[in-house]
Amino acid sequence: MTESFNVKLVEEMKYYTPDPEYKRNSWLGDYQKAYDEFLTDPDAFWSKMAQQLDWIRPWDAVMDWNYPYARWFTNAKLNITANCLDRHVNNHRRNKVALIWRGEGGAERIYTYQKLLSHVMRFANALKKIGVKKGDRVCIYMPLVPEQVIAMLACARIGATHSVVFGGFAAAALNLRIQDAEAKVVITADVAVRRGKAIQLKAIVDEALINAPTVEHVIVLRRKEPCLDLHPTRELDFYAVMDGVPDECPPEVMDAEDPLFILYTSGSTGKPKGVVHTCGGYMVGTYYTSKYVFDIKDNDIFWCTADPGWVTGHSYIIYGPLAVGATVFITELTPDYPDAGSWWHLIQEQNITILYTAPTAIRTFMKVGESWPNKYNLNSLRIIGSVGEPLNPEAFEWYYHVIGKDRCPIVDTWWQTETGMLLITTMLGEKMRPGFAGKPIPGVTVDVVDKNGKPVPANSMGFLVIKSPWPAMLRTLYKDDERYRKYWYTIDNCYTAGDLAVKGKDGYIMILGRADDIIIVAGHNIGTAEVESALVSHKAVAEAAVIGKPDPVKGNSIKAFVILRVGHQPSDNLRQDLVHHVRTTLGPIAVPHEIEFVDKLPKTRSGKIMRRVLKAKEMGIDPGDISTLEE
Ligand code: WTA
Repeated sequence: MTESFNVKLVEEMKYYTPDPEYKRNSWLGDYQKAYDEFLTDPDAFWSKMAQQLDWIRPWDAVMDWNYPYARWFTNAKLNITANCLDRHVNNHRRNKVALIWRGEGGAERIYTYQKLLSHVMRFANALKKIGVKKGDRVCIYMPLVPEQVIAMLACARIGATHSVVFGGFAAAALNLRIQDAEAKVVITADVAVRRGKAIQLKAIVDEALINAPTVEHVIVLRRKEPCLDLHPTRELDFYAVMDGVPDECPPEVMDAEDPLFILYTSGSTGKPKGVVHTCGGYMVGTYYTSKYVFDIKDNDIFWCTADPGWVTGHSYIIYGPLAVGATVFITELTPDYPDAGSWWHLIQEQNITILYTAPTAIRTFMKVGESWPNKYNLNSLRIIGSVGEPLNPEAFEWYYHVIGKDRCPIVDTWWQTETGMLLITTMLGEKMRPGFAGKPIPGVTVDVVDKNGKPVPANSMGFLVIKSPWPAMLRTLYKDDERYRKYWYTIDNCYTAGDLAVKGKDGYIMILGRADDIIIVAGHNIGTAEVESALVSHKAVAEAAVIGKPDPVKGNSIKAFVILRVGHQPSDNLRQDLVHHVRTTLGPIAVPHEIEFVDKLPKTRSGKIMRRVLKAKEMGIDPGDISTLEE
């Protein structure tokens, strides 16, 4: 393996030490002490966390490990919404604000815990009314509005498995996800509002449903006047469907191992992976990390800037923070609308205390300059977090100085859709090291190893692996268990995350990026194969190869190499046409930033495209061993 990381940085050993008050006042206390406690008795550690929550029936065993299958809190019964909602309604948080939403033009909506529960129960009853049962799959394709949160929680209330698809996916991608999950109902909205413009979500759903025989009903949140016309029987209005339903909906009794949701993520083939998460372990994992990593207290206002359509939104907008009883802020406003001060304005206006965002956003803000955040009072902030891709040292420094004012600890959290909960970070109060996410949190064991599973020496590159099961881990890939097993059989006796990493002499871990054919563009996972298959579905394209190129703001940008079919000529028009084609099949997040027309592609003897060679050539570096190269 080539040592392409910054060796100087690895050896530098630069740290920032947070104010000791943070540690003193934190839920966790001392990291090492907590970690040792976990190592001494892992079951006791997780049991202590789980006992903080409400269970209908307790577990027989904390964990049952039958490699590569784990069952957590075996035979325990629960409902996650009873913990995210009822638990608080029954204690002093009854009238506490659970959710604050901000839309464009100053629009604001506020839900207390009591009000949120009542909406969730009514919508849950509406789902029941139209025939949704425990175990049925419901696809949610919505903008970032409170109804999206309500729809997800309502599914969980009745034991239906939600599959949320991010609103930035186009019709073909949505269709594939609806079909794979065999969704019975799709919940959507007429429009999403983005930068003052309405994006016609319902039209995309209509197209996605052309070949989706399992879908019986479409529930539509109608936001625009005049109201969109609906089909009289198949399509239902989000609010009208609740007419006449009972107010109360007791939580469905779920086994700890019953599925809670499916969430599709990109893999190294064209077909996305349906990551399956279950109720009990996921609840404990997201609750534990929300409380002990973000250190959420009753007077915090927590803002995770992700969309609920990604795992970050599932775990740290909805399930984790609500299980803790936090006040959660969400917004449909983008960071650049109405101007580049939009988010800082919201922090000042809402007194946000914990901000959790992504490196790509931080780098975008760096580009427009610190005069924007400096216009606003950010003193309410006490903890700032990052997720989704490596937080490079320059972005770390900027975030720390300009946003955190040299005062707020940064929690750079590493995790994946598959892991369900964050696993590596620098716990509150510990010294922070720019460029390094940190160490495994108490409860988690990780290492950096070679392909045989042997730990690599400190300061050298290897594969990031997780060495023991954790409660929020994925249980399988929907209808594709064979592919699930690969996570645990790529390197023996551990979970291979697919990321390259370096462990410093101090045990801090630097994440370098993906080791496979997944490109992380502005924090979104895009499979090269997905983009390639979208390109070859265009009539002019014979073959395509896609690579990620380092980009100073987005982390990576997508470059496509395209071989045209006979009779088609390269032109700028065709280039635009291809971009449009990818935008409308896969979605705007997967559009190539650059397209190069070529006559041939480097391939192995067996015909596999060698993206590594394309990438090396593009970046002017040695492609390494290319002996299998044919052309
Ligand atoms: C990357 C997002 C560096 C990594 C929660 C991982 C990170 C992929 C970090 C999962 C981080 C996530 N530092 N890289 N703090 N967090 N990644 O499934 O490559 O959308 O494998 O989950 O994002 O992305 P996913």
